[in-house]
Amino acid sequence: MLKVENLSKSFENQRILNDLSFEIEKGNSVAIVGPSGSGKTTFLNIIGALDVADSGFVYFNEQDINKMTANQRSAFRNKHIGFVFQSHYLLPQCTVIENVLLPTLTYTNKADKIAARVRAEELLDKLGMMPHKDKLPGQLSGGECQRTAFARALINQPQLILADEPTGSLDEENAALLSNELIQLNKEMNTSLIVVTHSLKLAELMNRVLYLRHHKLITDSVF
Ligand SMILES: Nc1ncnc2c1ncn2[C@@H]1O[C@H](COP(=O)(O)OP(=O)(O)O)[C@@H](O)[C@H]1O
Ligand SMILES: [Mg+2]
Repeated sequence: MLKVENLSKSFENQRILNDLSFEIEKGNSVAIVGPSGSGKTTFLNIIGALDVADSGFVYFNEQDINKMTANQRSAFRNKHIGFVFQSHYLLPQCTVIENVLLPTLTYTNKADKIAARVRAEELLDKLGMMPHKDKLPGQLSGGECQRTAFARALINQPQLILADEPTGSLDEENAALLSNELIQLNKEMNTSLIVVTHSLKLAELMNRVLYLRHHKLITDSVF
């Protein structure tokens, strides 16, 4: 479903990604590990259509997102990609359920809006968040904020979830809980999942682990 070929990206004449190739099938999961500054976030941003590569191809179901205009990329993102970041980026003045529904604000059809609301409640229920649905982010724990962010990432039923250090700001116990919930939801929804993580525990839960080294993604038997 996602196929990257010969991708290169530099910042200020410094090569970050060099002739990198990568592929992921529908419903599969991959962990990306590697030292800080190696380009993991840059890679996620490019395949998530938040940034563009200098050269190479990023085929998403045969469509090259690296050739899209900014407007096309933004429509594509909203439709196909769910992002989870280390910080939850919830809107502080919106409740949990309102935050989850943010990506559906552009819906104009009443039936679509109702369906989105039902989906939001289902997702919150699966994440044990229904008792908190009318709370503001400031009234939640870190793990609860991150669960809300998961639900928001999944609300549009994206084909691909990109998670950048999703458990990085949580303690070990909450990180383990959240990791399992992320995997579980991913399986149920048959979504492809790419997770950048420092946590070997989280990485081991994925189908594959790739290491970003020498500006490329490689399989490393150590992991
Ligand atoms: N927008 C940018 N402008 C200039 N340099 C950047 C930009 N984004 C990332 N970099 C640089 O690219 C390198 C890789 O960054 P990043 O992808 O964030 O690494 P990682 O996520 O693996 O820690 C770093 O040296 C970083 O400073
Ligand atoms: Mg990063």
